[in-house]
Amino acid sequence: MKALNFGSLNLDYVYNVPHFVQPGETLSAASQSVFPGGKGLNQSVAFAKAGAVIYHAGCVGQGGAMLEQVLKESGVNVDYLAAVKELQGNAVIQVNPEGQNCILLFGGSNQCITEAQIESTFSHFDAGDYLILQNEVNSLSKIVDAGYVRGMRIVLNPSPYNEIINSVDLSKISWLLMNEVEAEQLSGSDDPEEAWKKIHENYPELSVLITLGSQGSMAFSGSETVHQDAFPVKAVDTTAAGDTFTGYFVTGLMGNLPLAECLRRASMASSISVTRPGAASSIPTKEEVDLQLAKC
Ligand code: RIB
Repeated sequence: MKALNFGSLNLDYVYNVPHFVQPGETLSAASQSVFPGGKGLNQSVAFAKAGAVIYHAGCVGQGGAMLEQVLKESGVNVDYLAAVKELQGNAVIQVNPEGQNCILLFGGSNQCITEAQIESTFSHFDAGDYLILQNEVNSLSKIVDAGYVRGMRIVLNPSPYNEIINSVDLSKISWLLMNEVEAEQLSGSDDPEEAWKKIHENYPELSVLITLGSQGSMAFSGSETVHQDAFPVKAVDTTAAGDTFTGYFVTGLMGNLPLAECLRRASMASSISVTRPGAASSIPTKEEVDLQLAKC
């Protein structure tokens, strides 16, 4: 079994700031770094580090060669990446002293996926393979449809949440993976159990995972509900914590691990990632995750 991630690649321009810049304010950053990122790339790296067979499809634009290199060096298959003339997608990220971030996205190359690329990529995947998606690339609904027709199990991280998510047919999705803000945007409820009930009423086949920051995470699948506490750590940079969670959680599902174990491994991987700066660069290997879990 293999996984295909049809997703974004970003150059992350990260600025450490005393507080998030306010309207009309000019603020000096204490430092600036450029990291590999993008929800798609981060998740693919997390899959590879967790031990999954993962293919990343998407578009590399002008200035993005190092992102393809990062995927390759992490063990991600890049056979279905396309080169485009558009500027590489990028993100301007402010990180405050508490390690929280706010992100400004420029889609660029991530908005250049063509129908021909979708068609040729899916010809290499079969029923039972996993398809991983976020909302940072164009043609999301078409990609969902192509995976569904092939009988793939589709995992959607509806992030960033906007009207495009409302146009996706959620009855074609197997798992929705999101944080508490996205769960509220999608369901109208800020209570995870209530959000699950509302989603389950409309989409009885859909399973849902909600990450709750310091409150841990909850997974709902059929009649099963599992809660996992967060592992307490001192956060330096929370960028890609959710992406790390996604890669480890779905790798656990692909390995048929019990739901509670999928959550536990994903939660540990995610908690390690927030102790390090950057996005993809902060994702731990499965050996690091095993080592920390053995100490618990
Ligand atoms: O999820 C974190 C990612 O969101 C960053 O790497 C940034 O590129 C944005 O896409």
